Amino acid sequence: MNPDLSPAPPSQPSHRRIFRRCRAVLRSIPLRSSILFGAIIFGSLVFYTTFLSPRGLLLRKPQDWHGLSQHEFLNPDLEYTSPLSTPTTPAEIPLPPPPPPPPISNVLTVEQIRDIVASTRGFFTRDYSLGLGWNNVRYILDAGVLQANLLNRTLVIPSFVYARGCLYNLSVCADYTTMVNKGDAIGWDEWRDLPYEQQMGFRIPITLMLDLPRLRGQYPIITASEYLRLHGQDPATESSSGFWSRDWYISNPNIFEPNKTKTPSQFIIENHWFDPTGTNRVDYIPQAMKSRGKWERHSEAEIGETAGYWPPEDPTDISNLLMSAMPEGRAVMDWYAAKGVLRESRAGLEVDVNDDNVVEGVLHANGWEVLHTFESVLGMEYAKTVVQPMRQVAPRSTIRGFIDDYYHVDADVVVLAGETHLYRKPGSILKGALRFTEEPARAKFASMVVHSFVFPPKVLDLAEDLANRMREINDGRLWMGAHMRRGDFIRLGWAMEPTPEAHVKRVKERLQIGREVLEHLSDLSTYDLEGAKPDLEQVTLSPPLPDDRFYVATDERSPEGLEAIGDAGAVLLSDLLTMEDRRAFGWPLMITDVRAIVEQAVLFHSGFFYGHAMSSLAGVVTNMRAARGADPRTMMLD
Ligand SMILES: *[C@@H]1O[C@H](CO)[C@@H](O)[C@H](O)[C@H]1NC(C)=O
Ligand SMILES: *[C@@H]1O[C@H](CO)[C@@H](O)[C@H](O)[C@H]1NC(C)=O
Ligand SMILES: *[C@@H]1O[C@H](CO)[C@@H](O)[C@H](O)[C@H]1NC(C)=O
Repeated sequence: MNPDLSPAPPSQPSHRRIFRRCRAVLRSIPLRSSILFGAIIFGSLVFYTTFLSPRGLLLRKPQDWHGLSQHEFLNPDLEYTSPLSTPTTPAEIPLPPPPPPPPISNVLTVEQIRDIVASTRGFFTRDYSLGLGWNNVRYILDAGVLQANLLNRTLVIPSFVYARGCLYNLSVCADYTTMVNKGDAIGWDEWRDLPYEQQMGFRIPITLMLDLPRLRGQYPIITASEYLRLHGQDPATESSSGFWSRDWYISNPNIFEPNKTKTPSQFIIENHWFDPTGTNRVDYIPQAMKSRGKWERHSEAEIGETAGYWPPEDPTDISNLLMSAMPEGRAVMDWYAAKGVLRESRAGLEVDVNDDNVVEGVLHANGWEVLHTFESVLGMEYAKTVVQPMRQVAPRSTIRGFIDDYYHVDADVVVLAGETHLYRKPGSILKGALRFTEEPARAKFASMVVHSFVFPPKVLDLAEDLANRMREINDGRLWMGAHMRRGDFIRLGWAMEPTPEAHVKRVKERLQIGREVLEHLSDLSTYDLEGAKPDLEQVTLSPPLPDDRFYVATDERSPEGLEAIGDAGAVLLSDLLTMEDRRAFGWPLMITDVRAIVEQAVLFHSGFFYGHAMSSLAGVVTNMRAARGADPRTMMLD
């Protein structure tokens, strides 16, 4: 919206450059146990959220925070630039002294912040549960970008996130970035009984994980610390938990406000207003849909759960039939299920049920509407891919539009309270946190997720170099890669195989299938994604040979485990990284969460990818490979 204001206009879109070669097979393996897994994971999510109690989210007044960490950020906007060197060996080797505080770069002036906001109707923000891992935080963020955009507001995001681990002794990373006790910083108790190492985390600038200049070159976004500066408040008072401090954040006037007693007004969208049971939250209700159902705005000026209503309609035979086919506890069903119902009904004899337009007409005439969202991977929502569009149908009366309900709110700050992906039934966990009423809006969201919400250029550049090295190792042939999630998945009993030996054997068996796919690949296709063009290297480069080395991204850390994986022919991140890479990238490469995104970005380039359907990492890799133009057959998740 303010391209000239974006501090460092995004350089030539790097996705072109990032995306090179591969293919994928999204195998529809019958979902034997996926439903059970879904239930288990959902259960654990609920468990997780019990820690999200109001006590956990207690507003932290600035004076409460001082005990949190000894090393508060000096830099108000938490930008980082790489220091001169990074240890390449474990902690026993003497380290160079920590570098001086990084220079402030890419920091907006208050005038620039003011101008970004001036192009919109005000601020939109959410409670960001920073105790979640990065991949979950990013879903809250990308849904936030969508929601703020719908309301024509400037999104306020946290300026930092928490990383979970250091490659070396914690004290090594703590010399470079703020170490915190996660329980204190977030206000959750779930880590209290864990060993010291697992209680601690690192507060790192969000710009280490996300190309913020690029994203805000396209969407009006500021960080909470920028918001605070705009209101004359100390950026160091940013909420440590990601929770939007209801009082503190609106306690000071905007510094450009001549009336010094005029503090920002605030409107809270209560969490239970967002998608109460029995309703379907959508982006907006198009005019044609409003007319079909005679949607009316509530006459009273009161603003709350919803701003309008659908006058009751008499049920029809068809709407009754559809309703009786509705899955238990849901307010939406899949397009194909609805079509099946119509085919069986009397209407099925009268109209051509194979013609989608006809089906849609019948649905409309009977009080139902078509909604757009994304297919899940193997029936599970953990991978959160945006590459497979899906249609669903719902009774019109269940539909609530985000724009319709909240665009007219004219408070300075609009806050969507709490999480919209917790406490929900697994099937209702949505990409973007809502459904779309029109296909182009769905496509636009997918496009934002893969083209605008990307890793920082530094991560992508390093990953590209590493991918090129993988190719060289295999004499220029396509190379294959896999993700072996072990760490916490071992503890939870979700890892694919208990031992590293058995796990890497499984990987090799899957990659053997992958090699055959690559050998016979022709008639290239892509996922249904804006701007995706088939990556021709998939057919111009030679396919892998049986004994080719393959790349493995893993969080396995035990030396024996890593040795077993390497002995099987796998190349690991540490094998590809040189001392020059580490120096050029700097200390963040010691943070395991940053390494994890470098590994993901390496896998974007893989000729074939095998991953774990229950891991969100697989979803990120799928999305980005899709954007690169990888053939859907060149990927396998199970
Ligand atoms: C968003 O709001 C701003 C400020 O009210 C207005 O100037 C702009 O035209 C709006 N943009 C859209 C797309 O409605
Ligand atoms: C990490 O470093 C600290 C301080 O140098 C030391 O006290 C501690 O024992 C080390 N921990 C491990 C696991 O090596
Ligand atoms: C300043 O703002 C306060 C709070 O909004 C309002 O009550 C007051 O009337 C304003 N004063 C002037 C001079 O506009």
